[in-house]
Amino acid sequence: MRILEGKTIILGISGGIAAYKGAELCRLLVQEGAAVRVIMTRAAREFINPLTFSTLTGFPALTEIFGVDSGGTLTHIDLARAADLFLVAPATANILGKLAAGLADDLLTTTALAVDCPTLVAPAMNVNMFAKAVVQDNLALLQRRGWGIIEPEEGFLACGTTGKGRLASLERIVAACRRALAPRDFQDRTVLVTAGGTREPLDPVRYIGNYSSGKMGYALARAAWERGARVTLISASQLPPPPGVEVVPVERAAEMLACLQEHFAAADVVIMAAAVADFRPARVAGRKIKKEDQQELTVHLKPTEDILTALAQARRNQLLVGFAAETEDLLANAGHKLAAKGLDLIVANNITRPGAGFGSETNIVTIIYPGGQYTELPQLPKLEVAYRILDAITTLPRFQRGESGRKGRNSE
Ligand code: CTP
Repeated sequence: MRILEGKTIILGISGGIAAYKGAELCRLLVQEGAAVRVIMTRAAREFINPLTFSTLTGFPALTEIFGVDSGGTLTHIDLARAADLFLVAPATANILGKLAAGLADDLLTTTALAVDCPTLVAPAMNVNMFAKAVVQDNLALLQRRGWGIIEPEEGFLACGTTGKGRLASLERIVAACRRALAPRDFQDRTVLVTAGGTREPLDPVRYIGNYSSGKMGYALARAAWERGARVTLISASQLPPPPGVEVVPVERAAEMLACLQEHFAAADVVIMAAAVADFRPARVAGRKIKKEDQQELTVHLKPTEDILTALAQARRNQLLVGFAAETEDLLANAGHKLAAKGLDLIVANNITRPGAGFGSETNIVTIIYPGGQYTELPQLPKLEVAYRILDAITTLPRFQRGESGRKGRNSE
């Protein structure tokens, strides 16, 4: 989903060593389809040449309010008018102080006062500087005034120390930009997503599993977070956590159910994208099963509990979305699961089709509603599919009813 396509992003680069990462950030934003207008502080120009940014963006990288840069026009007002998003990355302690105090003594700080769009800062500095009360107070003040703070990460810093102060990963910064410009229709909703294939142990070294990669569930978690939700991803996949999402790792179906039950009361929407094992070994061997011990091995399997059915029985007003992985009679089989499991929506995919299902970067799904209506989607990247599924959820009466009751709760 190209949320940043056609958007104008003002990227402020302030003067810290992480300024060099601004070039790669710039490239990523341009790659997402954004028009990036770079404003550098004077100190930033000591770390990286403006030519790098003008080459990457196709626009001059500006610094001064007056003189050559301005071309005699009101540059800061023109830039501010065009801006869909204002981001300072990296933001030094100095620029945070100026933004918090409302100072406007260069093009970046003046434009910051003139914009009327979402504003974000990604601080980066030495660990002691970041921990200083004045810096923390400035960040808290900016946050109260509506600035989004992209927290720095812990790690090795250019000053040779280790601690919190390293610029957030570029993936997190781009994700924050997307979240700032995505629709806010999941704001204040709590969404639980499951992902991956559960593993049912046979002995200490073996398990029964399936081919699910978890990519569809991760895309859904990412999309829901971008659209304003608080997201918990209950994951049986090894993929790296998506930005902003709380990930709870699980392995077995029973663990997944227990974890969902723990989070269920607080949830508004549950999306079961996980490929849950339907059977588990009746007995788990305490020691490795050795081949010498037997000519033939018979494993007795017992059914696992159906998680969606259990949740449907315990639901108050939670909206339940299931997936149906099918190899034949897609609509009939998925429609049957929708009714049998008491779901609000089911997403059916024929996992035998190339470009659909397990492990693939794309998916081909049909979204089926309780009344029997359905929407067939073409082959799309999984993040795009996730956006379409969330679109479908927003049309459901249960989702719309929830909106009024929850307005104002726990907004960021
Ligand atoms: N599911 C579940 N608990 C299980 C098995 C599946 O909640 N023990 C959920 C899946 O996460 C999915 C939906 O039920 O959202 C349908 O899963 P699927 O594997 O397609 O169907 P099953 O119900 O397992 O039926 P079958 O395997 O016979 O097709």
